[in-house]
Amino acid sequence: MKYLLTSICCCFVLVATAQKVELPTAKFINNDNSAYSTPSFDDSKWVELKTNTNWDSQGFGTYDGYGWYRFHVVMPHFFNTGNPVRLYLGRADDACEVYFNGTLIGKSGAFPTDKGGYVTTWDKPLEFHLESTNPLIKWDADNVISVRVYDGNGLGGLFGPMPYINVMDLIDGIKISPDPIGANKRKVVFSNTFATTINGKCIIESIDEEDQSVISTSTTEVSLAKGQVKQFDIPAVKNNSHGSYAFTFIENTTKKSVAEKQYLPYILTPKTGDAPQINGPKVYGVRPNSPFIFKIPATGKKPLQYSVDNLPEGFTVNQLNGVITGKLSRSGDYKINLIVKNKTGIAKKEFTIKCGDVLALTPPMGWNSWNCWGLSVSDEKLKASAKAMMDKGLIDHGWAYMNIDDGWEAATRNTNGEIVANKKFPDMKKLGDWLHGNGLKFGIYSSPGTTTCGDYLGSYQHEMQDAATYASWGIDYLKYDWCSYGDIHDKNDNSLESYKKPYEVMQTALQKQNRDIVYSLCQYGMKDVWQWGESVNGNCWRTTGDITDTWQSLSSIGFSQTKQYPYAKPGRWNDPDMMIVGQVGWGDHLHNTRLTPDEQYTHVSLWSLLSAPLLIGCDLSKLDNFTLNLLTNDEVIAVNQDVLGRQAKQILIRSNPSEGDYQVWVKELEGGSQAIGIFNTSDKSEVVRFHWNELYLLPKQKVRDLWRQKDLGNFDGMFSTRVPAHGVTLIKITAN
Ligand code: GAL
Repeated sequence: MKYLLTSICCCFVLVATAQKVELPTAKFINNDNSAYSTPSFDDSKWVELKTNTNWDSQGFGTYDGYGWYRFHVVMPHFFNTGNPVRLYLGRADDACEVYFNGTLIGKSGAFPTDKGGYVTTWDKPLEFHLESTNPLIKWDADNVISVRVYDGNGLGGLFGPMPYINVMDLIDGIKISPDPIGANKRKVVFSNTFATTINGKCIIESIDEEDQSVISTSTTEVSLAKGQVKQFDIPAVKNNSHGSYAFTFIENTTKKSVAEKQYLPYILTPKTGDAPQINGPKVYGVRPNSPFIFKIPATGKKPLQYSVDNLPEGFTVNQLNGVITGKLSRSGDYKINLIVKNKTGIAKKEFTIKCGDVLALTPPMGWNSWNCWGLSVSDEKLKASAKAMMDKGLIDHGWAYMNIDDGWEAATRNTNGEIVANKKFPDMKKLGDWLHGNGLKFGIYSSPGTTTCGDYLGSYQHEMQDAATYASWGIDYLKYDWCSYGDIHDKNDNSLESYKKPYEVMQTALQKQNRDIVYSLCQYGMKDVWQWGESVNGNCWRTTGDITDTWQSLSSIGFSQTKQYPYAKPGRWNDPDMMIVGQVGWGDHLHNTRLTPDEQYTHVSLWSLLSAPLLIGCDLSKLDNFTLNLLTNDEVIAVNQDVLGRQAKQILIRSNPSEGDYQVWVKELEGGSQAIGIFNTSDKSEVVRFHWNELYLLPKQKVRDLWRQKDLGNFDGMFSTRVPAHGVTLIKITAN
């Protein structure tokens, strides 16, 4: 049934079916006034905007700050069913408050004036519920929904799927809350959040994720009155199972269902042994006369004793923590032997210091503050993660950089025009010294524009001064983010030169410093940056927009890195963005990554194959065992750090019902071996089969499973492997 509604004081017409009133447009103003929430406020002179796309594309291009949307909606009487009414408003870039007929009914994110400061929730769906008995609702009359949006930077306003209002289904009243994984004697609670009684089935299944077979299932018929809950025990499974739980409720009258899934974090990486083992890269680049600082990454039963054979003159190695320091005045290759001993034995590894003009000869490995702390990063938070990097042993696997992203800059420069840190970072030099003393590296962030993406001070027209300041603090890495340079860049100038220019200016400034600063370009891949990043002496360059912790984001970014592979080589890396494992959140409120364990194995495998910079984006002080294991598999890391510096090529891609959905990526390694990632992009566990010749490889291959660090044997002609949904089999093969 169609029902035509005409709003009372607004010129647009809303069409409702029995189920839905769509809200394609709203009145809009780009300023802030609390009176805009009042239903009787006259908004007839406001402009009308589409609600499924940001305000930037509708005439408010550079506007950041507050804006208000007002919807006038006639709420049809047939929505008054006893079930609540849903207000779905798409998404708001970045934070918003929602008023219904003048009363605040919901909020997402936080405004700069809120306690704790601004928090963006730009990717969070906005859904609010009103009980049908709520006296705020005026049936068959005009209701005003006012939305106050705050845009922190970049695109702003309502966007995403079209907003609508509808009556909620009975099934929407069911909430399923399982205890977190890891808790003792776990329970799951099914509750009815509606005023009406809901009848249905509660189903609890435990599933083997290897082949998605159901291990156990229990079904209970329930009748849940208003506010009532039913609690069930969750059956325990064996330790470290590769499994999941599905909790489902099927409502009896509509047969509609709702489900919650929980995936068990299963560990693949074997424990490191007692014997000393030297990890990390085989080469390290340094410029003549720049300080060299490198910690020997090594595992084995502590205490370890570090030494080096053939150290260049003037170099020293700290025997207790393995930090090598020194300075070379002449270019050339310096071959040394790293030695690590403990009570159980000795490990040696050849290592080359390449003194020349190329840095980052293997992809940088470390941590960046953005994906966890966003703009709320502080000295304290960085130090907590740095301490965890050491205490949890990540540093022993080659993780080194500690990079502060946006949010460290003070609002104004000092009287000499120098950039200064805000009060969250009391002493940058001291912080740098502390990191270096522990064998870690120090990274920072800025923009060639007047402001950064987070609206902090940028480097425009202060590039030389800023590079000198960074050098004086001991900075080893600079991420340089286009952001507001978009306002300086002439929009009519589409020349490559104009896109390169700001990166050349900063590069010239960095070159003049008496220390090495790895240069990371961040401009989201504009003008195919991978083709010219090297010409501005960039060491890595972002190839895409920002990543977030969903399969959609991970897979669309990761699997699209195909045309960039010829441009990766020692010192020059394509960067598909930072990692989204562990506790992330882009602000003060962290959550566990929404990626399943298999998606995380895919993430680390793919980034290693792509020779991507590996920058962990989570709060390391809250590192769980699963994430720690994910990040400390030396055979997987070795794929990333391979000296050849090749990027994997996507060789096979299948997407059809008979062969399944999978991709095979192959990376050439030093010594003639190959690392191969077999990725299952479908939602079902699959057996993938192929002939080596489909990958242009010799017919007889010796295969090693890198995650399990286990030889699988010799495979003649054909290889087959079961790959979990969204998961990976990562192997290293050698022709025999
Ligand atoms: C974005 C960038 C992010 C982060 C952020 C800081 O442009 O892609 O990685 O640096 O700015 O405001």
